[in-house]
Amino acid sequence: MKLKTIPRHVAIIMDGNGRWAAEHGLLRAEGHRQGVKRAEEVIKAADELGIKVLTLFAFSNENWTRPGAEVSILMKLFNNFLERQAGRLAGSNIKVRFIGRNDRLSGYILSKMRALEEKTARNTGLVLVLAVNYGARQEIMDAARLFAASVMAGSIRIEDLDERMFSGYLYTESLPDPDILIRTSGEMRLSNFLLWQLSYAEFYFYRKYWPEFKKEDLTRVLRDFQKRQRRFGGIRPSK
Ligand code: FPP
Repeated sequence: MKLKTIPRHVAIIMDGNGRWAAEHGLLRAEGHRQGVKRAEEVIKAADELGIKVLTLFAFSNENWTRPGAEVSILMKLFNNFLERQAGRLAGSNIKVRFIGRNDRLSGYILSKMRALEEKTARNTGLVLVLAVNYGARQEIMDAARLFAASVMAGSIRIEDLDERMFSGYLYTESLPDPDILIRTSGEMRLSNFLLWQLSYAEFYFYRKYWPEFKKEDLTRVLRDFQKRQRRFGGIRPSK
C-alpha cells in the first residue's frame, strides 16, 4: 500500500472492549484481553507504516472508579503487557514513554514501566506513548504548577510564557502534537484526553469496537487523512 503523507503522530482512544465482549456473550475481561492484542498489532503496524509517534490511551484517571475487580484485571493485563514488551520492544527500534501521574499505581508496575522506558531509551524508531493513569486536565494543572515553581525560583519571567514554552511543561514535552485522533466504538467525545495537544488534530470517530480494529482499519484512516485539507485556521491554499 502506498501512502503519500504519513501522519507524524497518531493518537488513539481504544474504546468498546466491554460492549464487544457483551455482544459476543463473553466476560468484559475477555474484551480487554482482545483489546491488548489489538494494541500490540497496531503498535507493530504503526512502526511498519513509518508513523513517528503513536499515543494510546490505556488507563484514565477516571478508570479508577470502575469496580475493583475490573481495575485488577486491567492492571494484571497491563503488567503482562509490560513483561511481554520488555523482551519484544527492546529487540525492536521502538522507544516507549509513559504519560500520566505516578500516584495510585503500584510500585511493582511503576518499576516495570521505568525499566521499559530505560531499556528502550536509545531506540530511534517509533515513539510509543502510553497514557496510563492519565487525565488531560490534571496534566494541564501539573504544567501550571511546574511553571509557577519556575517563576518563583526566578528562572523564568511570567511574560516569557508562550504556547511553545507551556507545551514544554506538559507530560508530552518535546513530542509533536497529534495529527490524527481515532476513537473506536462510535462514541464522540474526548474523555479528558490530550486536550491541549489535540487543538488542530483531525478526528476519526470509528464505528468498530476496539477488539475489532485491525491494521486495515488503521490504513483506511490514514488514506482518508490524505484527502483532508488541514488549514490550521488559515484559508485554503490557492492553486
Ligand atoms: C475501553 O473499553 C478500554 C479501556 C478502559 C482501557 C483498556 C485498554 C486496553 C485493555 C487495551 C490496551 C492496553 C494496553 C496495555 C496497551 P471499555 O471498557 O471502556 O469498553 P465499553 O465502553 O464498551 O465498556
